[in-house]
Amino acid sequence: MAIFISEDKISKIKNTADIVDIVSEVVLLKKTGKNYIGLCPFHSEKTPSFTVSPEKQIFYCFGCGVGGNVFSFLMKQDGLSFPDAATMLAGRYGIDIPTQTMSPEQKRRMSERESLLAANKLAMNFFRHSLLETAAGKKAMAYLNKRGITKETIDSFNLGYAPESWNNLANFFSKKGISLALVEKSGLVIPRKDKNSFYNRFRDRIIFPIFDVSMQIIGFGGRVMNDSLPKYLNSPETILYNKSRSLYGLNMAKGKCRKSETVYIAEGYFDLLALHQHGVQNSVATLGTSLTLEHIQMLRGFIGKTGKVVLVYDSDAAGIKAALRSIEIFNKGYVDAKILILPAGYDPDSYLFEFGFESFMNTASKALGIIPFLIDSATKKHGLSVEGKINIISDLKKPLTAINDFVARELYIRELAERIGIDETAILKKIKDTSGGKVIQSIAVHEQESKFERRIVAMMLQFQKILSEISKRNILEYFENNTLKSIGEIILKHRNGSDVQSHSSCISADDSGRISEIMNLIDDKKKRNIIASLAIGEERWNSEGCLKLIQQFENSQNRRKNSLFQKKIKAAAGENDRELLDKLLKEKLIQAKKRQKNLRLADLGKT
Ligand code: GTP
Ligand code: MN
Repeated sequence: MAIFISEDKISKIKNTADIVDIVSEVVLLKKTGKNYIGLCPFHSEKTPSFTVSPEKQIFYCFGCGVGGNVFSFLMKQDGLSFPDAATMLAGRYGIDIPTQTMSPEQKRRMSERESLLAANKLAMNFFRHSLLETAAGKKAMAYLNKRGITKETIDSFNLGYAPESWNNLANFFSKKGISLALVEKSGLVIPRKDKNSFYNRFRDRIIFPIFDVSMQIIGFGGRVMNDSLPKYLNSPETILYNKSRSLYGLNMAKGKCRKSETVYIAEGYFDLLALHQHGVQNSVATLGTSLTLEHIQMLRGFIGKTGKVVLVYDSDAAGIKAALRSIEIFNKGYVDAKILILPAGYDPDSYLFEFGFESFMNTASKALGIIPFLIDSATKKHGLSVEGKINIISDLKKPLTAINDFVARELYIRELAERIGIDETAILKKIKDTSGGKVIQSIAVHEQESKFERRIVAMMLQFQKILSEISKRNILEYFENNTLKSIGEIILKHRNGSDVQSHSSCISADDSGRISEIMNLIDDKKKRNIIASLAIGEERWNSEGCLKLIQQFENSQNRRKNSLFQKKIKAAAGENDRELLDKLLKEKLIQAKKRQKNLRLADLGKT
């Protein structure tokens, strides 16, 4: 359930919750200096690089670059939304959250959501009634029977039937006094061209209601019962339904996923019904969309971080496509993923009905990991001739370089080497001298450019006292890296006048929540990671060092500007443009004076 939590409460939760407590539930932390370190829960590693700062109430992993505050930790770990993470923390620390404090806009959005959920529920009952209790529904029931779907499955998945009519559902809502303009937002009805009336989206189709984990109906799927097209029709994206975040059957599967620490992911509605009906109840289906990181993060909340994902595909081609696409997702979501390819011509639905549960589980137990699967299919495709081997390596190059985990990558390279009988170092060389090297190089150049700017933002995060100086001298104006610039701007905006009071050379007590608070203001995960990386350092700043850094930054800016200036002056002189030359020289003098003044200020800062 989406709830609104006031700023006050967020702030209270933030001040009460302790990040070390929360992280300790899943990571074994060890104290080192002021911080704690442990093995990162978000990527696989052998030596700990996951760092938690109790003082700043933030975490950062030096291995995978993920960072944030206690809210972002829970969001990432359990696949929660911000309000859900906040609610969970509130519950844990006994802070109650009244739902009455919503703004009118929030109330409107909330009530729209509630109304759409209610409309979906009415529609589901309408479709069920049509299937179970009308003459027209007999045909649909016969179709389901023909496909082997039992009454039990029909009931537990609340399957229904949308009769062959352009307006009966629309009329049904009208009779109940429900505005069709509202129902339109659920995608169940579509406005006609004249915009004065509406027609049914689903006509003469088997209906599959799509539930979210909390058993709310967020959308529908519909299948024709003959060869007409489109075979399947889904609800459009609405405020309730987002297909890259929805998984068909998750509401039914979640308990079993938790118990078995495994989830099977199929592609279709009937596949999902067949899996459940045959006893593979820890399965879900993606609906006409490829697997997303959000899906995996959601599932991780149920299977746990060491859980297993088995992707079930009906052909090599579909499997290869999905495998290539999913490497990055699995890297980030960090789960153990396997790919199960059914024999040619079978999908989970037809396979289970023909061979049954035992046979399915037996095949599933032989499912390969993503890279071994890709090695396998490349070997099948190219053979082990000299050319074949070259092609295999070239097919595997990209997937192998995409693996973040260094140890895993080395192991897979060894496996590939053994499988095709080639020396490991030869493969390694081939992989390293392509994209990998380039990527690292370009990151390095980029880093060099924004190194100064990163230092300055780190200083702004860790030494609040300097903020007035940064703002006075308009330092952010000169930033070239827009991300760092916008982070800097948020820090300045968030400043609360306390910067002059604190004179200690490290973060003072009243400053400790500031970084975490700034993170709450930022929706962009990448920016939060950057903030965490810059804030986590245990540097000890003082005014002198800070002013020196600012001065160095200004000097480098001036040098750049000067060389530009010098070029302009030369050009003006070359073209004998006296007027421009005069103007440029005057400006140069002003700049020089300004620099002198700043230098004196820096000297003052030293004493
Ligand atoms: P059955 O023929 O009923 O067994 O379906 P299937 O799941 O075997 O069909 P298929 O492999 O063709 O499609 C897999 C999934 O892709 C379906 O369950 C749908 O979710 C989706 N899909 C297939 N066809 C369409 C279509 O025409 N439109 C949309 N939106 N989705 C489709
Ligand atoms: Mn099928």
